[in-house]
Amino acid sequence: MEWTKEQRYRTMEEVSEEEIQGLAKLVNQCPWRQSFHIQPETGLLNDPNGFSYYKGEYHLFYQWFPLGPVHGLKHWYHTKSKDLVHWENVGMGIKPSNEFDSHGAYSGSGIEHDGKLYFMYTGNTRDENWNRHPYQCLAVMSRDYSISKMDAPVIADVPRGYTDHFRDPKIWKNGDLFYAVIGAQRENETGTVVLFQSRDLKDWKFMGELKTGLGEEFGYMWECPDYFELAGQGVFLFSPQGLKAEGDSYQNIYQSGYVVGSPIDLEHNELKHGAFHELDQGFDFYAPQTTVDHQGRRILVGWMGLPEIDYPTDRNGWAHCLTLPRELKIKGGKLVQQPVPEQKLLRGRKVETIKSVENENVRLDHFEGDVYELLAEFSDSTAEEFGLELRVGETEKTVIKYDAAAKKVVFDRTRSGESFAEEYGTIRKCTLEAEKISFQIFVDVSSVEVFVNDGVEVFTGRIFPGIASNGVRVFARGGQTNVKVVRWDIK
Ligand code: FRU
Repeated sequence: MEWTKEQRYRTMEEVSEEEIQGLAKLVNQCPWRQSFHIQPETGLLNDPNGFSYYKGEYHLFYQWFPLGPVHGLKHWYHTKSKDLVHWENVGMGIKPSNEFDSHGAYSGSGIEHDGKLYFMYTGNTRDENWNRHPYQCLAVMSRDYSISKMDAPVIADVPRGYTDHFRDPKIWKNGDLFYAVIGAQRENETGTVVLFQSRDLKDWKFMGELKTGLGEEFGYMWECPDYFELAGQGVFLFSPQGLKAEGDSYQNIYQSGYVVGSPIDLEHNELKHGAFHELDQGFDFYAPQTTVDHQGRRILVGWMGLPEIDYPTDRNGWAHCLTLPRELKIKGGKLVQQPVPEQKLLRGRKVETIKSVENENVRLDHFEGDVYELLAEFSDSTAEEFGLELRVGETEKTVIKYDAAAKKVVFDRTRSGESFAEEYGTIRKCTLEAEKISFQIFVDVSSVEVFVNDGVEVFTGRIFPGIASNGVRVFARGGQTNVKVVRWDIK
């Protein structure tokens, strides 16, 4: 079905309760609803927004088009949690309602100030000729979680030299001052990011472009920038659009990644840094956002999806979910991403086995399922390749393996189930030189998240297998490996 502009930009007031109920019914019939990931009740979820820790609770919003699996009039949907693993739906967070966000409450961030939780987001607007004008808007949450908007935008204009692709403010505080990075496109259609400064979150001063070492041309637009400091280093994270695939890298339609360097020099708007790295080596990951919590932990959540790709759940009226929260650390100039320790709260019944496999493919009894956490630790391997097959059915399987000959970790969804996005390939790889290989894997009804060697690499992918595809197998080819596998039900 083609969605017209009118259908995409209807307000919720124009929609009948019946229509919503009909859509919810269609969604609930979907065989691929997730069980422990944040997903929309109906419609499309995209970027995580406003992620913050405030008065004992984590608040996490997402971009939401309630009426179907397409990008239309975007809202912020609100979820909250005390422990990052049990999430509660709060309800609508920010609704487009005025001339400054008439065509969508686009992405933005949250920050505590004077005891209150503030949000800065991009108000997307279009005029009669469908010309875009973005406003950066401010809103504040009250005790009952309702959110009120300031009367006027706090940044009303795009600075000279940039196009109307100007959005996704991420705020942080340095001393007494607030700073924001905003994703931008130069008039010559290259991507960049600009800096603003404020004393009070209301009055913002344009400081100019952030000078990075990424050159004049690194994609045509940078979305969802984020800056933070971790272990004394500056980390700049963003989602560039327009990078060409190169070897195993940049295989998805759009990328998201980071650079690590010395802390940002706010006097000269400069960040000196090392190479750009992708955050996730898998298929479905974009527009991540981080926050820092009361324990000083830096936590990241991403959108487990990508723009402009059709997913099999579309026909059931919904699309996408968020990734599990990941705690970030720095090791040797690169980010390490680990599931938060609270994730263990979801561990239920446990089974484990130790095996030696040699040129064989062994089914693990009692390991079956479509929702579980699994940890596989391989050791003393002589095999050319070894790994796991998950969601195994008669013809289906999802393969996660180490190609020891090529020194690459491989995630293969060629035969995972219903195929989609095939034009971007069905295999993802990344180089990893290591003596020992371990995969910590979170399997939900229609997704797999693999943390390799305690988070030095992560692979995320949606998969759409048949309900009977539940088997787990371990294998080794061209030699032998020992493997210890532990599996927990997820409560
Ligand atoms: C990234 C993005 C953001 C924008 C939002 C709109 O996926 O395009 O740049 O604010 O989605 O939903």
